[in-house]
Amino acid sequence: MVREGLALAALAGARSVTGYLQQAFLWEAALKSVYKIRVHVFDRVLQRDLGFFEGNDSVPSGDVAYRITAEASDVADTVYSLLNTIVPNSLQVIAMATQMVVVSPALSFMAALAIPWTSLIIAYLGQRLRQISRNAHLSVARLSAYLNEVVPSILAVKANNGELKESMRFQMLALDDLEKLLRKRKMKALMPQIVQALYIGGLLLFSAGSLVVSKNSFDASGFLSFIMALTLLIEPIQDVGKAYNELKQGEPAIERLFDLTRFKSKVIEKPDAVDLDSITGDIKFCGVTFRYADNMPPVLNGLNLHIKPGERVALVGPSGGGKTTLTKLLLRLYDPHCGCILVDNHDVQDVQLKSLREHIVLVSQDIMLFSGTVAENIGYRDLIGKVNMEQVENAARISNADEFIATLSDGYETNIGQRGSLLSGGQKQRLAIARALYRKSSVLILDEATSALDSKSELLVRQALERMMADHTLTF
Ligand SMILES: Nc1ncnc2c1ncn2[C@@H]1O[C@H](COP(=O)(O)OP(=O)(O)O)[C@@H](O)[C@H]1O
Ligand SMILES: [Mg+2]
Repeated sequence: MVREGLALAALAGARSVTGYLQQAFLWEAALKSVYKIRVHVFDRVLQRDLGFFEGNDSVPSGDVAYRITAEASDVADTVYSLLNTIVPNSLQVIAMATQMVVVSPALSFMAALAIPWTSLIIAYLGQRLRQISRNAHLSVARLSAYLNEVVPSILAVKANNGELKESMRFQMLALDDLEKLLRKRKMKALMPQIVQALYIGGLLLFSAGSLVVSKNSFDASGFLSFIMALTLLIEPIQDVGKAYNELKQGEPAIERLFDLTRFKSKVIEKPDAVDLDSITGDIKFCGVTFRYADNMPPVLNGLNLHIKPGERVALVGPSGGGKTTLTKLLLRLYDPHCGCILVDNHDVQDVQLKSLREHIVLVSQDIMLFSGTVAENIGYRDLIGKVNMEQVENAARISNADEFIATLSDGYETNIGQRGSLLSGGQKQRLAIARALYRKSSVLILDEATSALDSKSELLVRQALERMMADHTLTF
């Protein structure tokens, strides 16, 4: 008695250990594959053209974030439930089906006739679920994109008394998401029931039919054993159906993730592109025409411009005149439709992108700071931990940023918050200029980079730049 009890306990223990091992192992497989997918997708996103991120049909950053975070997790759930159900249940299905064939091949054949039409119905339902699930993904992605836009602009919302308006916009989006999600959940609940009803109905019809057909041809116990095997098929088949559900529901997430990785770059580096060690800064625009989209008027039309090494050029024009666009073309973030751009008499299309962007440094009118310390932001060119503090301090001194950095709580080690939210506009600009100086490139482009400076700082920065830039400066 005691021995049997012990054996039973050991069996139960072994069962829970294997249960745990199975789950742990499967989750490890599922999560590791998602980790790899995430890294791959993000790397591909980094490689995409600038046009993917700006302009009319760009994907909102919140949507991209949602795909790489939440939807990638959904992929893990899908992979897990597929692995967890398909393997054990398939084994049971195979065993039961073999049993049936052994008992009566003829009846098995008849039972198998049900497979095609139930498969058709299940495939149709799966297709519906996929569509419904896709809509649910799109509505959450919209919600995420909305939040990603509004939360960073909370100052504008509050200053314009926009709380009520934003609350209503949010509620609309959230309500839409609620509807889509509910539809998905209901469909998911309905599908196994339909499959079960189909199966049981078929089973009853089949039993009645085969009783009539094979009245005396084989004994009752054989028939009973056959029906038993058929009944035991219900559960695993249902589980496989559920796994199929999971797959269909998970498909949109997988598709949307991989959509991010499927693209054809417009800006392509040639295989034999040259790596320029240094440039003197001779820049030519020859008959450059550019438009952002085919149906838009050209921003630049047949532009000719020659900037010699060491020359300092200021481009003045109305806002929207194409000054920033010119910079984007020089950095080869877009390619012109006609004409060419030469740097040191090399067409930029023949130069390695990395090398081109190494020698031309841009201080943009949009602030380009990241959360992290002051030193990390100035030394952004280098990997974290490899930043040269001496150069950082030097750059800060020249850009007139060292004064305010000294007043920060931790000096160069102060974390400046998301997009530098801890700093004033002028302070952010000075940091951005310091970063450009740290890079020591031959061509410096200031794209309205001194617009947020007070007149005293601007004067200081200008003087400092003049002192420092014996080389060549472009000011847009
Ligand atoms: N990503 C874009 N997609 C479509 N149009 C754009 C894009 N960026 C800028 N534009 C348009 O191109 C024109 C020139 O813009 P820009 O070069 O930024 O002017 P600015 O001289 O003020 O720097 C503007 O009319 C602007 O609307
Ligand atoms: Mg501009």
